[in-house]
Parts: sequence; C-alpha cells; structure tokens
Amino acid sequence: MIVTAFPESFLTELTERNDIVEVVSSYVRLSKKSGSNLFGLCPFHSEKTPSFSVSPDKQIYHCFGCGKEAVEFLARRVNMPVPEEANDRESKKRGRMLALNKDAARFFYEQLSAPGGAPARDYMKRRQIGRTTATNFGIGYAPDSWDALRSAMKAKGYSDFELFDAGLVRKGKNGGFYDTFRQRLMFPVIDVRGNVIGFSGRILGDGEPKYMNSPETLVFNKSRNLFALNLAKKSKSGYIILSEGNIDVVSLHQAGFDSAVASLGTSLTPEQARLISRYTGEVIIAYDNDGAGIKAAQRAIGILEKLELKVKVLRLNGAKDPDEYIKLKGAEAFRQLLEGSENQIDYRLRTVTDKYVLTEPDQKVAFLKEATELLARLPGAVERQVYAMRVAELAGVKGEAVADEVERRRKRMLSAARKSEARDQSRPERQLQPEEKSFRYDDPASAAAEEGLIRLLYLDPSLSGSAALPAPEDFSAPVLAHIYAVLLEKARRGDSLSTATLSGALSGQEMSLLVQLLQKPEQLNRGETALNDYIARIRERKELAGADTDLRALAKQFREKKGYEG
Ligand code: GTP
Ligand code: MN
Repeated sequence: MIVTAFPESFLTELTERNDIVEVVSSYVRLSKKSGSNLFGLCPFHSEKTPSFSVSPDKQIYHCFGCGKEAVEFLARRVNMPVPEEANDRESKKRGRMLALNKDAARFFYEQLSAPGGAPARDYMKRRQIGRTTATNFGIGYAPDSWDALRSAMKAKGYSDFELFDAGLVRKGKNGGFYDTFRQRLMFPVIDVRGNVIGFSGRILGDGEPKYMNSPETLVFNKSRNLFALNLAKKSKSGYIILSEGNIDVVSLHQAGFDSAVASLGTSLTPEQARLISRYTGEVIIAYDNDGAGIKAAQRAIGILEKLELKVKVLRLNGAKDPDEYIKLKGAEAFRQLLEGSENQIDYRLRTVTDKYVLTEPDQKVAFLKEATELLARLPGAVERQVYAMRVAELAGVKGEAVADEVERRRKRMLSAARKSEARDQSRPERQLQPEEKSFRYDDPASAAAEEGLIRLLYLDPSLSGSAALPAPEDFSAPVLAHIYAVLLEKARRGDSLSTATLSGALSGQEMSLLVQLLQKPEQLNRGETALNDYIARIRERKELAGADTDLRALAKQFREKKGYEG
C-alpha cells in the first residue's frame, strides 16, 4: 500500500483529523456495510458496480478498481503538508521513544515489588487497589530518587536526550538531568495499539501537584488519547463509562466495570469523543459529583451527541466520585445506578413533577393533565402503563384512573391525526407547499420529511434525546430548520412544547406554518419507524444535494490526470 511510504506519526495525525466516513460521504453515496466496510462508486474513475471500499476502523479507503488511495487528498483537505519520504527519521525516533516508554513502564512496575516500593504498596492498600488490577493496568512506582529511572534507562542504552524528549527526565540548573517522576504511583498511558505513550503519576497521599503527566511528545498527545481505552475497547458491555480520575477508572475496572476510561487531565475533546465513537455507540458519563464535574459533563454531552452517540449521565448521590461510590455502596449499587441511568422519559417526567406542589389539589390536577399528556405520546403500551403507575403514585391517586386517562388522550390524539390525514389526502396539493410564498420549499421531498420530524418532536419531545437526530443544518428548508432548532432546544431543556410557549421564539409566519404542518397526519402508532424514515430521507436528500459539484470536479480532475475514460 502507498501509505507505508509516509511516517507513522504523520499518518496517525492525518487519520485522526479526517473522519473517513464523513470525508467520503461528502463525495460518494456509501451503501450498507459489508462486514465492517462501506462500499460505494469510486469517485476517481467511472464504474457501475461499487468497488470503492471505506473502512471506518482503519480510517482508510481504497478503490479495488483503480487502486487510488487517500493520503494526499486527505492531507490537502486539512491543510497538512505531505512529508517527504526522507522523513522516516522521525518514524525511527518514534519507534525508539515507544521502546523507551515500554522499558520505563517495566522499570516502574518492578519497583512496585522491590523493597523500596513499600510506600506505594501501602498507598495502594489504602486505596484498595489489588495486585491483579495493578498488573492489568501496569501500575508501577517511581521511587524516591533523583536518578533511579535515568540510570536504569542509560544502562539499557538510551541517551539523556532521548529520555528528555520522552519527558522522563528534566534539565537541572547545573545542566544535568534528573527524573521527572519521583515518589509517585505510576499509571502508564497505553494507546489502542498497545503502545506505552506516556505516564500519569499520582502523589502518594495528599500534596501538590496531585498528578504529574508526561508532557506532549512525539508520541503523546493528551487530547487524542484516553486513559484505559486499551482495556475498555475489549469490553463486552456495549457502552463506555467516561470518568474523570485515573483512580476512578482503576476502581471501576476492579469492580467489574471494564469499559471505564478517563480523559487525560483535560476536559473531553472532540478528538477523544471521535476515538470513543469508533468503539461504542453509547457513553455513560460518571464524572465527579461537584460543580466542576457537572459543568464538564454538560460540555461532554454536547461533544458526544454531535457524534450521534447515545449519552447518559450518572447521579452519584452521596459520593464524590465513582471510586468513593463503589467503596461506600458496593459494585452492585453502582450497577443499579448504571442500569437506572436516567432515560429521557424519566427526565421529562421529573421536570414536569418539579413544576408542581403536589399537595395542592389544583396543582395536582394540573400535574396530572400535563403528565398524562406526556405519557399519551409514548409509542409503547407497556411504557405508558408503567409510567402511568409512577404518575399515579406521585399524585397519590389510583393507578387505573391515570392509565385510563392516558389511553383516552392517546385515542383522541390518534383520531385527530387520522381525521386530518383524511382531510389532507383530499387536497394533496396543499400538503406540499406552505401558503407563505417566501417559504416555498426547494426540495419538497426532503421538506416533507423535515415537517414530519418536527411533528414527531412536537408530539413526543422525549425524542429530542435521540442521538440519531439530524442537525438543523441538515434541513433543506431554512424555515423548517429554524422551527426545528427552536423545538429541539426547548425539548432538550425539558420545557413544555405548546404553541403558546413557542410563540416567543418564532415569528408569526413561522408559527402559522408550524400550526399548518402540525395538522398534517402523523402516524403515532409507528413512531419509531416514522422517525427513522424521516431521518433517513433527510440524510439521503442532503447527500444527493451535496454530492454535486465537488464530486464532479474531483472526478474530472483525476480523469484528466490519469487518462481514465469518462
Ligand atoms: P482521587 O480520587 O483524589 O484519588 O484522584 P483521581 O484519580 O480520581 O483524580 P481527580 O478526580 O482528582 O482528577 C481527575 C484527573 O485530573 C486526574 O486523573 C488527572 O488526570 C487530572 N489531575 C488531577 N490533579 C491534577 C494535577 O494536579 N495536575 C495535573 N496536571 N492533572 C491533574
Ligand atoms: Mn477521584
């Protein structure tokens, strides 16, 4: 493959800065997966059967027809200079640094069992970190010495400069070098390929700084790696637990939660989120239970949802972090917390509940009205039943009464929808374009789906939690994009959606369009399917609209260069 001619560090950065599926799908319509690969028609030569394969894991594409590969094109896309082949000096350096890191990790690990390692062993005992866990993570000890690591590594043939570049020694005032990490519990940071790329050292007990991390080096980039992802990627759990501290991660794995990772002392970055999205579709955030943790969680949610990851947040009541939670309440309690991590219905119901004082009779009535309205929109009968019981309990009324009311409301909603469907089918032309001329849709096929999505969201705001939702920018009609953006924001905040509450954020004409489109039929009984259909249609139309000039220009350029027949 061509790619081997480039230094690995360059390729790593290149692939991390380009999400392959995102890049390629702006030029090519990719069909369903075959194995883990996606296939489409090659943009570089003309063909009828797709031989153009994209591998999201490997972040690489290849055309089996014409052999074209990605490197130069991707580098241009993100403005990275393509290095000369002579630059494999850098890749040699990288290899040396990785070898040094591995040797250093081994050294620290050995120190943990050496006589001098007693303080670290005591500390681990205090934090209840067992031997097996230590081995799994490769936890070690940097002894109380200015040059223990340095001497050991020099004996193995590494130079001071190599140690310095790797961040393992520092330069003293007198020009000599001394160990960076001293008297610390050492956590090697290992990337998904199994390379030791850096270290994180915790002080034994209290003191400042609590953690020391390797500096950014040729092989260590904090914003593009996660602590313990090398272990978590093997987990069968189906989700990744994102926590803040190394100790939390270690403690979680030890308690059986083998999909825990932490960002490396920074708040979650988009690159880290993208890395996570290669291994899972769901992230459960278990940040510290303090102001900083809550704020960081909010930021992380935003970043993760952009990547269409399903996100849940844990509430660690009565503990400051996951480690303490497990120590205080046990692994079983944490598992229950994970299983019960708040879903969108719970969340919506809680916001409704919080609005009312349920001991006041009139407020109780208002609560029941709003809550039953919310439940009537749930597509699943069992769900409606279960949550009706919960609402009844909250209000102190009979369960059947609430469940009946929910079903009554639902029937009314469905029959209203059916009536308006019949009405609209008798006047199909009115279905297509809004009355207001300036709002006319350029792409009625996409607009119909966009309207549908708005309708579903209005009827069931809990859908706003779905990670699969398109962004407003994906809409073809600007007016619908705006209405959708407003609805989405309100729904995500848990605000109630009604024409009254929306009128502040929408213009009079937008309101009247919304009212019109809400009157069109929506088949609530197939909510989930309808949602997926609408989303698929919007995506498809957007791809069609986007795969135009860029693709043609690119294909033409390659044909001209290589003499492929068009
Ligand atoms: P404890 O629960 O207090 O034992 O620690 P922890 O491992 O849970 O870490 P904590 O929640 O205090 O911090 C979260 C992460 O922030 C750590 O894993 C480090 O990566 C980073 N961090 C914490 N303190 C420092 C510090 O003093 N300097 C640097 N550079 N990073 C820190
Ligand atoms: Mn902690």
